[in-house]
Amino acid sequence: MNFHKVKTLKGEITVPGDKSISHRAVMFGSIAKGLTEITNFLQGADCLSTISCFGKLGIEIENGPDRILVHGKGLHGLTAPDCVLDAGNSGTTTRLISGILAPQSFTTTLTGDASIQKRPMKRIMEPLSMMGANIKSLKGNDCAPLEIQGSPLTGIHYTSKVASAQVKSAVLLAGLYASGETSVTEPVISRNHTEIMLSHFGAEIATEGTTASIRPEPVLEGRKITVPGDISSAAYFIAAGLIVPGSEILIKNVGINETRDGILRVAKQMGGNIRLLNENRDSGEPVADILVSHSSLHGTEIKGSIIPTLIDELPVIAIMAAYAEGTTVIADAAELKVKESNRIDVMVNNLSAMGADITGTEDGMIINGGRPLHGALIHSMDDHRIAMSFAVASLQAEGMTTIEGGECVNISYPAFYKDLESLFSA
Ligand code: S3P
Repeated sequence: MNFHKVKTLKGEITVPGDKSISHRAVMFGSIAKGLTEITNFLQGADCLSTISCFGKLGIEIENGPDRILVHGKGLHGLTAPDCVLDAGNSGTTTRLISGILAPQSFTTTLTGDASIQKRPMKRIMEPLSMMGANIKSLKGNDCAPLEIQGSPLTGIHYTSKVASAQVKSAVLLAGLYASGETSVTEPVISRNHTEIMLSHFGAEIATEGTTASIRPEPVLEGRKITVPGDISSAAYFIAAGLIVPGSEILIKNVGINETRDGILRVAKQMGGNIRLLNENRDSGEPVADILVSHSSLHGTEIKGSIIPTLIDELPVIAIMAAYAEGTTVIADAAELKVKESNRIDVMVNNLSAMGADITGTEDGMIINGGRPLHGALIHSMDDHRIAMSFAVASLQAEGMTTIEGGECVNISYPAFYKDLESLFSA
């Protein structure tokens, strides 16, 4: 796929539904009693993997043109699949479903694509095993494929070393089935969609500081869920609007949950002109339209408790930093190394190929911005967020940028290139 410099970006965009919330709506709807109706569901490959897994666990899910209907069977309604469950490229599917499968009365084998088979699963195997789960990594490398033999679980208090919503959610979901209360403390709060949505379905969840606790065996009832637009997808248009001279973009209906809004805070910190309009709340999640105008950006420091609130946006923030004057330091973000690709290495290699001054560190990167960038051959490593970040980088680079494997945007944003092109002005 080839991309060129553009003059300016103008118009309105509606980004697809939030990936994290779409996954959870299908999962929680499956283990709730009765009908869950989901609108603005993200029809990306990752969320379709979740639908396919719950279908194999005996749940009828109707994927219609404007809504998804999940015919939930209650906490104990899942049935043994007659094949291996395939989570595709999706870490959220793999880790969250493990928490639901561990307490079942049957055995499941769970796998995914080549990237999933390299991603660390010890982080969920450890707490779930402490609860009594029987989970084996079939290749003995703490990665998928996993064999999960259903067992009775006991509630625990778990202190997680990483701030990860996937770990927190896996443990809380297992806690629905455990004897006694289960709680998870994380070093810094990670996205809280599980806590918000599970309590909307009827679970007893409490949060205090960085600890979330859940009581077992609630009656979960089917609900109507309206999924807000994904701020992680909006991030590409925020960055593009800030970088390309003369641009003004209105991004409609974006989720601005404070555990996800780090991109907005950092963009402002870098001098970005960003305004929130029409703030409102759907299914317990805050939503707004975001108006972005071109701005001259300057470097900044991004570290500490803000990191989990923008972890998926760091690749495109690195692109903003390359176009900003001065130095940007990103630290405390070692988690970037275990995403769909090693996002520190991949950003360093590709941005260097475009002429940027970037150095990788153990837990982030240092970017000396303001150098002119030129087109290059970009290796996406089949990582959707890398492909979209470099499509944004190409918009102000001299010459042609070619993104190898660019179709991987299907994971979270199938219409991304079409939406981006709709903003090109002559
Ligand atoms: C997600 C949590 C984050 C994020 C991922 C989605 C979720 O991962 O990077 O894209 O939906 O819970 P970690 O929990 O590994 O930080």
